Amino acid sequence: MAERLIITGFMGSGKSSVGRELARRLGWRFRDADAEAESQMGMTVSEAFERIGEAGFREVEAGTVARLITEADDAREGTVIALGGGAVTSQRVLDLLASEPLVVHIDVDVDTAFGRAADGSRPLASDREAFRRLYEERQSLYRQAARISLDSRGFDIPGLSQRIMEIIGKVEIDNP
Ligand code: S3P
Repeated sequence: MAERLIITGFMGSGKSSVGRELARRLGWRFRDADAEAESQMGMTVSEAFERIGEAGFREVEAGTVARLITEADDAREGTVIALGGGAVTSQRVLDLLASEPLVVHIDVDVDTAFGRAADGSRPLASDREAFRRLYEERQSLYRQAARISLDSRGFDIPGLSQRIMEIIGKVEIDNP
C-alpha cells in the first residue's frame, strides 16, 4: 500500500491549498476530488448541482473518492488527496475513510470559512445562515471521518502544512 494522506474539512478550510503544499514538500502526488469529479462529469460542481441535483453529485463524488483511493494505493509515490467539504455526507465515503491510515480534518471557524468560500463558485456557500447551519451539522461527521483534527486558526498555508508534517511524523518538531 502506497503512502497517502487524505484531507477533509469544511468549505474554505484550505484543504486544496494545504494539500498542494504538503504534496510539494513530501514529493507526493496531489489529487483534488472536486477537480477530478468536475473533469469526470465534464461540468463544474455548480452545473452538476443544477443538472443532476446534490444527490446526483454526491454519487459521482463518492465514486471519485473511491477511484482516487484505489489509484493512490496502486501508485509508486505517495498521494495527498483533498476531499470536497461535503464528501463526508456520503456513507460510502465514511466507510472508505474508516480504513484509511491517515485522514486529517482541518478545522476552521465559520466566518473565515464563509469569507473564503462565498466566491460564487460553491452552490452551498451563498447564504450565510444556511452556511452556518451546514457547518454545525457537519462538525460531527468530520470528527467521525478523521483521526486527527487540527485547528487552523493563526496558521497560514506553510505553517499549517508544517504542523501536519510534524503530526504525521514526516519532520522533526522544532524544539529549542
Ligand atoms: C461542498 C464543498 C465543495 C464542493 C461542493 C459542495 C460541500 O468543495 O464539493 O461545492 O457540500 O461542502 P470544497 O470544500 O473544496 O469547497
